[in-house]
Amino acid sequence: MALIRFVSNGQIVLQSIVSSDGRMPTVLSVARQAGVGVLFNCEVGDCAACIVGVRTLHAPAQGVFPLTDKERFLLRAMGRLTDADIADADAGRRPANVRLACQYRVGDEDIIVDYGHAMGGG
Ligand code: FES
Repeated sequence: MALIRFVSNGQIVLQSIVSSDGRMPTVLSVARQAGVGVLFNCEVGDCAACIVGVRTLHAPAQGVFPLTDKERFLLRAMGRLTDADIADADAGRRPANVRLACQYRVGDEDIIVDYGHAMGGG
């Protein structure tokens, strides 16, 4: 089971519980189903419109869904993740704190997704 808190401008907009039935929906699909206004465009990891800040409060034993190649490329090119951030995420030492909502699939983690913060460029 995943617990996702969507936050914008410091305010919790919505808490969503995603049952772990093996589907592993993307953060973007959870947001869209719940009516949370995470921006998006391409939905395939090419445009970066859906950048969100992510704070992982609890990660499942097997770790969170790994960064996709598109996330590595775009977020590094935009200066949102460093090589060290990516190495830490890949090694399971520290989940990435910026993701593409259309690429990040949730399993059994407890996370805060900040889409207002991400839009502000911080
Ligand atoms: S909507 Fe384009 S990268 Fe996610």
